[in-house]
Amino acid sequence: MLVELSNVYKNYYDGAWEVPVLKNIGFSIGRGEYTAVMGPSGSGKSTLLNIIGCLDQATSGTVRIGGRIVSGLGDDELSEIRAKKIGFVFQTFNLLPYLNALENVELPMSYAGIPRAARRDRAAALLKRVGLAGRLSFRPDQLSGGQKQRVAIARALANQPEILLADEPTGALDSGSGARLMELFRELNKNGMTILMITHDIRIARHARRVVTICDGELSEGEIYGFRE
Ligand SMILES: Nc1ncnc2c1ncn2[C@@H]1O[C@H](COP(=O)(O)OP(=O)(O)O)[C@@H](O)[C@H]1O
Ligand SMILES: [Mg+2]
Repeated sequence: MLVELSNVYKNYYDGAWEVPVLKNIGFSIGRGEYTAVMGPSGSGKSTLLNIIGCLDQATSGTVRIGGRIVSGLGDDELSEIRAKKIGFVFQTFNLLPYLNALENVELPMSYAGIPRAARRDRAAALLKRVGLAGRLSFRPDQLSGGQKQRVAIARALANQPEILLADEPTGALDSGSGARLMELFRELNKNGMTILMITHDIRIARHARRVVTICDGELSEGEIYGFRE
């Protein structure tokens, strides 16, 4: 299994109160899977994704990435795992506004110490792969929402991650751009990329091969708001 969570709990402290957000999550993702996590707002979807992505830590339980227990590791080790194994895509794109598309995609490779010529070539190839070969020198404010998200996906793939984590990737897009983005996800998955995608939109979730639902911090397999497909 690429990702394995067992007995994972996450609590937040709200002043004096301890608020349970994830309750006894047992969840695994195999290599090559394409999974959607559905659930209403506030149900714990982003918390789950952030724990899998080593951006946050579980309160208790065990999290394994590629067989290695990551719960309890220090910040340096977690950021190394993030940089090498995980690609992130967010609803709000999170591109750097003063860098063009090529430079945004190059950035994680420059942190990883890849020489300039190699990272230029790879960034251009990635942008071509997401359909933006003609937009390399465009800055984010010169791109549509769908194009910005494609740049973000190319950036997420820059260091050849083992899994792509996408938190509401179509949340800021119109339905046409969202549908085209889902075609891209499907193609990336067909070519071997493991994908975990959060969405509260059933039409988006249906693009994944597997759907799990979170409600009040509890995860169940294969149910879409009570209906089985
Ligand atoms: N850093 C935090 N501190 C306190 N509470 C938080 C924090 N992050 C999330 N929460 C709470 O945890 C619950 C789940 O949040 P989240 O995982 O973002 O839900 P979703 O992504 O499903 O909308 C919410 O009630 C939210 O208010
Ligand atoms: Mg969220």
